[in-house]
Amino acid sequence: MENASAAPGAEPCGGRGLEGCGDDGHAPVMPSELVRAVVADRHGAYVDATFGRGGHAKHLLDALSPRARLLVIDCDADAVREAEALARRDRRVTVRRGRFGDLTDHLRDAQIGPLSGALFDVGMSSPQIDQAARGFSFSANGPLDMRMDQRRKPTAAAWLNNAPEAEIASIVRRYGEEHQAGRVARRIVAARPLDTTTQLADAVGAATTAGKQAVARVFQAVRIHINDELAELDRGLTAAFQALEVGGRIGVITFHGLEHRLVRRCFREWTQGAQAPRRLPTTGVPTPVARRIATVAKGVRASPGEIAANPRARSALLQAVEKLSAKPCRKAERSATWPERQDPRLARVAAVVTQSPTPLAPFLASARSWGAW
Ligand SMILES: C[S@@+](CC[C@H](N)C(=O)[O-])C[C@H]1O[C@@H](n2cnc3c(N)ncnc32)[C@H](O)[C@@H]1O
Repeated sequence: MENASAAPGAEPCGGRGLEGCGDDGHAPVMPSELVRAVVADRHGAYVDATFGRGGHAKHLLDALSPRARLLVIDCDADAVREAEALARRDRRVTVRRGRFGDLTDHLRDAQIGPLSGALFDVGMSSPQIDQAARGFSFSANGPLDMRMDQRRKPTAAAWLNNAPEAEIASIVRRYGEEHQAGRVARRIVAARPLDTTTQLADAVGAATTAGKQAVARVFQAVRIHINDELAELDRGLTAAFQALEVGGRIGVITFHGLEHRLVRRCFREWTQGAQAPRRLPTTGVPTPVARRIATVAKGVRASPGEIAANPRARSALLQAVEKLSAKPCRKAERSATWPERQDPRLARVAAVVTQSPTPLAPFLASARSWGAW
């Protein structure tokens, strides 16, 4: 499977006949490494939160016993159709269409759990990129859509044509890490209405001197925003951790720095509890938290051979942990009750503040209950 955010400036190999990509243009990244990291009990219950075209799911099923169970999730209609075909062939598989941020509900509806393992391979699939009509690719002209779940709104075009310039600049800066975000946003607003990927690419190209690199960064930013990708990943990981049995494992493959850091932060918080920002005034010392996880895979990269066969694997990073204690974690309690559309960094600060012994805590707790963030 591919991920356009894998290497800004270069679109991935999906569907273009490169060695390592499957018949329908996708190759799962680090499949053996991911399955090895996640499977501790071959008879257990598992979740593949990002089914795509099932590359990882099939490797996982090969490693599991006939009495294991696998819940597969995807929000994309085409992926779900593929998953349902797999479920008809393999009785261990149950399919849910939806967002992995709602994992708790999917597990309850499917009556699966507690989990022995969960895997996440985030980003886009090759078919999503390869179909110009999905609007993810800047090198093929298509409608400016970019929704992974075709039922959700807004499309990228609807958002870009209506959002204030400052909001566009903020998204491009935050999720594209684009230094010229202000110029890009100005150009986008001047070029409205934007209906196609080529129009967006041209507007960005005219705003910067960074060429395709800048276009890739802006496409990444818009895509992350439209699909609420980072908040989803935060919610999905938190729900998976809550659903894990002791000894259960989570493995995550991510493709760019924002995702890598988010996963590291989640794992750190499960280990240590949320950390207060250094300069925040507190009235007490946070209670030490027992160790809840062990690292199973840290910063694992694809082999040179895999990267040569599948260039997308170059930016992939595998991280995996094992749950050591059933003690509930503060972050899990907090995330389960929060609105999903939030800046994960703001969420982190707010979570720490409302749960720390600080004079601001009562005010922030009630602001939170009003839905102030
Ligand atoms: C990189 S692909 C996964 C490829 C898969 N591991 C394979 O080997 O075929 C990521 C998939 O996750 C899905 N996805 C992304 N965000 C999602 C979310 N929040 N909820 C559910 N599915 C999501 C996308 O639609 C896409 O099909």
